[in-house]
Amino acid sequence: MLSIPKKVEIIEVGPRDGLQNEPRPIPTGQKKELISGLAKAGFSRLEATAFVHPKWVPQMSDAEEIAAYCNQLGIPYIALTPNLKSLERAIAANVKQIAVFVGASTAFNMKNINKTTKQSLDECEIIFEKAKDRNMFIRAYVSTAFSCPYQGDVSFDELNEVCKRFVRLGADEIDLGDTNGFANPQIVYDRFSRLKELYPDAVFVGHFHDTKKMALANVLAALLAGIDKFDSSIGGLGGCPFSPGAKGNAATEELIWMFNEMGVETGIAYERLEGVSAFAKSLSTRLANY
Ligand code: HMG
Ligand code: MG
Repeated sequence: MLSIPKKVEIIEVGPRDGLQNEPRPIPTGQKKELISGLAKAGFSRLEATAFVHPKWVPQMSDAEEIAAYCNQLGIPYIALTPNLKSLERAIAANVKQIAVFVGASTAFNMKNINKTTKQSLDECEIIFEKAKDRNMFIRAYVSTAFSCPYQGDVSFDELNEVCKRFVRLGADEIDLGDTNGFANPQIVYDRFSRLKELYPDAVFVGHFHDTKKMALANVLAALLAGIDKFDSSIGGLGGCPFSPGAKGNAATEELIWMFNEMGVETGIAYERLEGVSAFAKSLSTRLANY
C-alpha cells in the first residue's frame, strides 16, 4: 500500500487562473455562472479573481464585481493581491482570503509584477502586516518554484529564499507553482520533502500546469511527499499571460477521479463536475489549441 494522506483538499482555481489568460473578454455574468456551478459542486474554496492592473490582465478587470458576487453567495474564496494597491482594493471589496505571489526567479517576477523578487518580498512585509491586522487568510504563492520560462532551471536555494521569508511572515499556506509546467515527479518529490523537513509546521500546496502532461504525475509525487492540498482548474483551463507557452492547470476532473478511485477522500462527487466542466470548456478559446 502507498503511504499517502487519507484526505485531500482540492482548491478550484478555474475562475482565476483558468480564465486569466483567455484572449476573448468573458462576460462577468458567465464568470458568475461558472462560480455558482463550482460552488454547487461542493468545493471548500475557490480562487475567484485577481485585483491586478486591468491593463496588465484585462480579463480580471471585474474583480470587484466578482468579489461582491462571491460575498453574496457566501462561499469561501481567494483573491490575488500582488501589491499594496491590490490589497487596498481587496479590503474595500470585503475579501477575507488573499494570495500574494512572488517568483523564485527574478526574471519571471519582473515580467509578472514589475519588481525583483527581493522588492516583492519587501512589499509582502507590509501586505502581511496589514492583512493580519484584519485577520485575513494569506496564501503565499512561490511562482517558478521548479523552473522559469526566462531563466530556465530554478535552484532549491532560490525557492527556499522565498519560502523562508513566507514562513517567517506567517503565511497560512505556501503554494508552490510550477508556472511553466516543466516540473517532473522527481524534482517535485525532492523539493516538497526537503521543505517539509525544513518547515514542519508550514502548510504546503501544489499548483501544477500541464504543459508537458506531467501535472497529474506531479500531483501524485507531491502526495507521496505528504502534501494534501492541490490547486486545479475545471476543464484543465489556465495559464499565466507572463509565462509564454504555459498550458492549463491540472484538470480538476482528473484529480477528483484519481483520488476518488484511490480511496483518498476529496468531498467532491465526480458526477457533479460534468455540467460545470462542459460549461468551463465552452468559455475557453485556448483549450482548442492545446
Ligand atoms: P506597475 O505598473 O508596476 O504598478 O504594476 P505601479 O506601482 O508602477 O503603478 C502604476 C499605476 O498602476 C499607478 O496608477 C497605480 O495606482 C496603478 P497611476 O498613478 O499611474 O494612475 N496600480 C494599480 N491599479 C489597479 N490595481 C492594482 C494596481 N497597482 C498599481 N493592483 C502590478 C504592478 C502588480 C499591478 C502589475 O504588474 C500587474 O497587474 N501584474 C499582473 C500580474 C498577474 O496578474 N499575473 C498573473 C497571475 S500570477 C500567476 O498566474 C501564477 C500563479 O498561478 C502561480 C503559478 O502558476 O506559478 C499564481
Ligand atoms: Mg498558475
